[in-house]
Amino acid sequence: MTPAEFEFLRDMLKTRSGLVLGEEKRYLLESRLMPVAREEGLESLGDLTKALMVGGAESLRTKVTQAMTINESFFYRDKTPFENFRDIMVPAMVESPRASTRKLRIWCAAASTGQEPYSLAIEIRELEERLRGWSIEIVGTDLSEEVLEKARAGLYSQFEVQRGLPIQLLVKYFQQTGSMWQIDSGVRSMVDYRHFNLLDDYTALGTFDIIFCRNVLIYFDTPTKQDMLARMAKRLQPDGYLVLGAAETVIGISGDFSPVADARGLYELTTATRSTAGSPAAPQTAPVPSTPAAPSTPTATSAPTVAAAGIAKPA
Ligand SMILES: C[S@@+](CC[C@H](N)C(=O)[O-])C[C@H]1O[C@@H](n2cnc3c(N)ncnc32)[C@H](O)[C@@H]1O
Repeated sequence: MTPAEFEFLRDMLKTRSGLVLGEEKRYLLESRLMPVAREEGLESLGDLTKALMVGGAESLRTKVTQAMTINESFFYRDKTPFENFRDIMVPAMVESPRASTRKLRIWCAAASTGQEPYSLAIEIRELEERLRGWSIEIVGTDLSEEVLEKARAGLYSQFEVQRGLPIQLLVKYFQQTGSMWQIDSGVRSMVDYRHFNLLDDYTALGTFDIIFCRNVLIYFDTPTKQDMLARMAKRLQPDGYLVLGAAETVIGISGDFSPVADARGLYELTTATRSTAGSPAAPQTAPVPSTPAAPSTPTATSAPTVAAAGIAKPA
């Protein structure tokens, strides 16, 4: 591959996915793109790049962009975010004015093959007592159609379920099908997977109470991270939470978020940003009252039903 071809590929990936392909990641081209080249009947990365350069190569460009995404994920990755979800985020949400509507929206902004949104869905099921009667929507988005397909199927190998998933949760929420394990349909239906590029406009997604955006910002340059974080701040409810990956931070990048004390990877909006957050102009499938209301106690008539809870649909 000539320097000009490498340059073309680097620019294309940056424009289409935000991925910064430094010289140190050049080695990835061979392993990721040679299979695509072969599929196209091409013999080298140089030939593939030439094919990308011609007009009308839109579907090939998409294929190459998706092939370059790093999709590594596993259940309960890094543990702490899920402990923070259970011990900090859920209690705060349950005690907030949301108690009157009992609605929560969670966005997994780089859902990959589904382990992260499903870990949250399982946690929600495990917190059934506490969240009884709540309607909880998890939106899982990703740039790669291929990983979303796998996420929707909820089918994992023995190796994948052994990575991070406690055995009792495996037994409780998965069925073995041949050599694979499938997450039960009730948990699967809790996640709405959508194809979405984080470089695009977020407005149509609505607003969220919690955003998990983990292990994706690391692939972008600082201006891209700044832009994404600023736009995520606008999608978050004023008292919402942002969760980043272990190697990611807002410090020195975004003035919209500040770390939550003693909670690694957890961020909240700064006071200045809260006043403009969760823009009411945005569509919101799960509206949260903007003015504080006294938390309501469930009554006999409002007592949760399994179906209404959205957290305990039968498998
Ligand atoms: C390393 S995985 C992280 C998965 C999960 N959040 C976790 O922490 O285990 C990163 C994901 O980000 C997705 N991704 C990369 N660039 C993206 C973009 N511009 N828009 C949306 N998703 C993107 C990739 O397809 C990949 O599935």
